Amino acid sequence: TKQKLWGGRFTGKTDPLMHAFNQSLKYDQRMHAADIRGSIAYARSLTLVGILTKEEETKITDGLTVVGQEWQDGVFIAQEDDEDIHTANERRLSELIGPLGGKLHTGRSRNDQVATDMRLWLLEQVQDIEQSVRGLLHVIVDRADKEKDILLPGYTHLQRGQPIRWSHLLLSHAMSFRYDLERIQQLVPRISVLPLGSGALAGNPFAVDREFLAKELGFASIAENSMWGVGDRDFIVEFLMWSSLTMTHISRMAEDLIIYSTAEFGFVTLSDAYSTGSSIMPQKKNPDSLELLRGKSGRIFGNMTGFLMTLKGLPSTYNKDLQEDKEPLFDSVDNVSASLKIAEGVIATLEVHADKMYKALTMDILATDLADYLVRKGIPFRETHHVSGRAVALAESRQCQLNELTLADFKKLNEHFSEDIHSVFNFEASVERREAIGGTSKKMIERQVSVLREVLRK
Ligand code: ARG
Repeated sequence: TKQKLWGGRFTGKTDPLMHAFNQSLKYDQRMHAADIRGSIAYARSLTLVGILTKEEETKITDGLTVVGQEWQDGVFIAQEDDEDIHTANERRLSELIGPLGGKLHTGRSRNDQVATDMRLWLLEQVQDIEQSVRGLLHVIVDRADKEKDILLPGYTHLQRGQPIRWSHLLLSHAMSFRYDLERIQQLVPRISVLPLGSGALAGNPFAVDREFLAKELGFASIAENSMWGVGDRDFIVEFLMWSSLTMTHISRMAEDLIIYSTAEFGFVTLSDAYSTGSSIMPQKKNPDSLELLRGKSGRIFGNMTGFLMTLKGLPSTYNKDLQEDKEPLFDSVDNVSASLKIAEGVIATLEVHADKMYKALTMDILATDLADYLVRKGIPFRETHHVSGRAVALAESRQCQLNELTLADFKKLNEHFSEDIHSVFNFEASVERREAIGGTSKKMIERQVSVLREVLRK
C-alpha cells in the first residue's frame, strides 16, 4: 500500500478534496530542475559528513539525474500521492534506486528545500528578465537616436505645453526602464541567500557544510538564521514589487502610444503585428497590445498586494500559507516577461508620422519662449509671463496665430518688444534653447543616448 511521505503518525485518510487542495505539484513542477540541483548538492554534502558513502552518493545523484531527465523529456509520470515537486522527485528516486533514496532527506526538510528551490528558480528567471529589460531599452534608444529631428508638442495635463523632440519623449520612458534595470540587478544578492541546511526550522543536526552547499549551488551568501531561512519570502515580495513598478512604467508608455495612435492625434500607427480588428466594425484597428500592457499591470499589482496579505501576521518559520507564494510569483514572472517582449516589439515596429506631429505644433505653445524673450531683455519673469498671456489672449480674440500679431501689437503690450521678436516663433529654435542637461535640444538628446548606451554596455 502506498504511503504518504509523512504518513507514519496518521491512521485516518485524507479527505479527497483536501488532498487536491493541498497539492501544489501542478504548478510547482516548474521548479523541477532547481529541485534536482538542490538535492544533488545536498547528497554531496551528506557524503562529506559521513551520512552517505561515496557509492551511495553516486547512486543517488545518478538517480536524481534520471528523474531530472524524465521531467525534461516530458515523460515524468506523476502519482496521485505526489503532493509537490519535492515529494514527487523523492518518490521517483526511490522507485529507481530503492530504499537508499530514503537517505537523501536526512537532516533536510521540505521547508529549507522549497525555499532553496524558489530562490534558485527565481535567480534564473531574473537573468532572463534582465535581458528583456535590456532588449526594450535597446530599441527605444536606437529609435530615439535615429528620430532626433522629429518635433511634436510635449503635453502636461494632456494639454499642449511646449515643443519637444520625439526622441525626448521616447527617452523619458527609457529613463524609467534604466532604473528598472538597475533595480532588478540589485535584487540578486538578496535572492541569492542559501536556506538549505536550515532544516525544518532549528538548523541541520549533521553539521552539513553550508559553505560547500552555497558554492555548489552558486549562492552568494548563506541564511544566517535557520528560522529566517525557512520563513523568509521577502525575495519574492521584492520581485513582485519590482514587477509592479516596471509594469507601471510599461503601462504609462502604453497609454501615451494609445492616445497618439487615435485618429484625433494620428502621431503613430501601430504595426499590424501588434494590433487586432473588430468583429463588427470593419474599419477598426485596435491597439490591443498596448491595452494589454496597460491592463496586465492590474494583475501584477494584485499578485504583490495579495501575497503581502498572505505574509502579514504569519507566525515565525514555515506555515503552509507560504505555498501560496508560487502562483503569484509564477504569474508575475510570466506576464512581466511577456510584457517586456511585447513592448519591445511594439516600439521596434511603430510607424511614426512626423508630419502629423509637426502639424500639432501650434504657435501658442511658444508662449513660454515669448515670456523668456522679454526675460532676456531684463524683465522679471512674473511680469513677462503676464505679458505673454495677454498676447495669447489677443491672438485668441482675433482668431489668429500668436506670430500673426504685428510688432505694433506686441509693443503695445510691452515696449521692449522689437524686430527680433520673430526669432521666437520657431519650434526648432525653441527646442534648441533647452540645452541645459536633461533638456530636449539635440545635444542633450545625444547625451541621453550615450548615457543609456553606456548603461547597456555594462
Ligand atoms: N509544497 C510546499 C510549499 O510549497 C513545500 C513545503 C512543505 N512543507 C511542509 N512542512 N508542509 O510550500
